[in-house]
Amino acid sequence: PHIEYLNFETFSDHGWDLGDDDLFEKAAAADLAPEDYGVFSYDDGRNLLQSAEDCGYSWPFACRGGACANCAVAVVEGEVEMPSNHILSQEMVDRGIRLSCISEPISDELKVIYNIKHLPGLDDLRL
Ligand code: FES
Repeated sequence: PHIEYLNFETFSDHGWDLGDDDLFEKAAAADLAPEDYGVFSYDDGRNLLQSAEDCGYSWPFACRGGACANCAVAVVEGEVEMPSNHILSQEMVDRGIRLSCISEPISDELKVIYNIKHLPGLDDLRL
């Protein structure tokens, strides 16, 4: 299984918006640094954050237990399972926002925007 990832911090430089539907095509053409855009494999039984770390990436986190929003990602394509959620609103969950420290990929291919902790509404939830 593979995760294609994109760093939300690159959006302001390029004028991208989380609602754009061709974000990953634009990212692929934008010559971004490997830590900002690329693909890695994940092993079953690992959460998203661990999978990124296993591949040498430093995605943001704080509590590692589903209690802040520092590790939040937006799942653009594919499915992840988040066993519990005490802090994200239903509206955020409906938009595909998940906590990477407790979410496990359940589809073969995922597209994920990481580092979305500064998104309006999430900023307030951080520790
Ligand atoms: Fe705090 Fe994931 S690191 S919820």
